[in-house]
Amino acid sequence: MAGKSYRDQVVIVTGASSGIGWETARAFARRGAVVVSVARREDRLERLTGELRAHAPGCSHLCGDLGSQAFAEHVVRDTVARHGRLDVLVNNAGISKHKHVFHLSGEEAEQVTRVNFLSAVWTTLAAIPPMLTRGGGAIVNVSSFAAKVVPPREAVYAGTKAAMNAFTEGLWSDLRGSGIHAAIVLPGPIDTDIWKKLDESPAYAGPLYPPGIVVDAIFEAIERRRFEITVPRRSVPLVAARVLRLIAPGMLRLGMRRMDPVPETLIEQARARARSSGS
Ligand SMILES: NC(=O)c1ccc[n+]([C@@H]2O[C@H](COP(=O)([O-])OP(=O)(O)OC[C@H]3O[C@@H](n4cnc5c(N)ncnc54)[C@H](OP(=O)(O)O)[C@@H]3O)[C@@H](O)[C@H]2O)c1
Repeated sequence: MAGKSYRDQVVIVTGASSGIGWETARAFARRGAVVVSVARREDRLERLTGELRAHAPGCSHLCGDLGSQAFAEHVVRDTVARHGRLDVLVNNAGISKHKHVFHLSGEEAEQVTRVNFLSAVWTTLAAIPPMLTRGGGAIVNVSSFAAKVVPPREAVYAGTKAAMNAFTEGLWSDLRGSGIHAAIVLPGPIDTDIWKKLDESPAYAGPLYPPGIVVDAIFEAIERRRFEITVPRRSVPLVAARVLRLIAPGMLRLGMRRMDPVPETLIEQARARARSSGS
């Protein structure tokens, strides 16, 4: 077993039915943690739990929609009721919304906000009391590099992740002295199914990195009490974008806009729709 042992610690991983969450749940179980995996697809969670129990027999899953406050809070309360403690909460569940702002509806914006941001707030607020009771814990929020450098067609997705960053920063301050550590991990492009669920084609055609780099960052954030980790660490475009954001944010915005220029026809179609709707 490589890395620090989490034997008998209780860990919730949201969005565990695929991608980053799937690998995170497996990694914690391999280190001995009792993992509660959360997502909507029950068949996948059943398969995952079957595998995790070979490492930690207490592993289980909860199936439901984290866009519902009642379910998000239930996840934490049920876990604590069954296991008597909660040591680590990984808020990883998320959905993409790669869609030009001309095509976005208010309902879609609300759904992404509920799943990507509010679910993490709801689970966190429910997790703080049991963590306080036991003297500590860790809350790791899986955000996105898109929160720092916003790609075209991701205004709402990036907005939810930027909200998550600000929330986590505030948590980090408010939790000082409590023994609870709050952290964010900002993944760049990671090779998961999320890329198959985009509403519109992405302009990005660069490399996709393995989910394991995010899992390593989650462990590092917990074990070394790091607040913010961006992965991959040594990607030249990501480092260049971060530097540009600091010294020439206007240039960075122009660069992002050029990545996926808005065709004239798209504006004309949106204008025609606006006129015909009487706006
Ligand atoms: N892959 C990337 O390039 C990348 C980059 C930056 C950030 N991220 C972030 O990383 C996190 C994990 O994404 P991923 O790349 O691993 O994508 P993924 O394979 O699509 O996984 C998303 C997970 O979230 C769960 N989920 C979605 N909506 C849910 C809901 N309403 N209730 C409960 N669970 C829900 C999904 O399960 P069900 O469908 O079964 O519910 C799935 O387990 C997300 O927050 C994403 O924004 C990913």
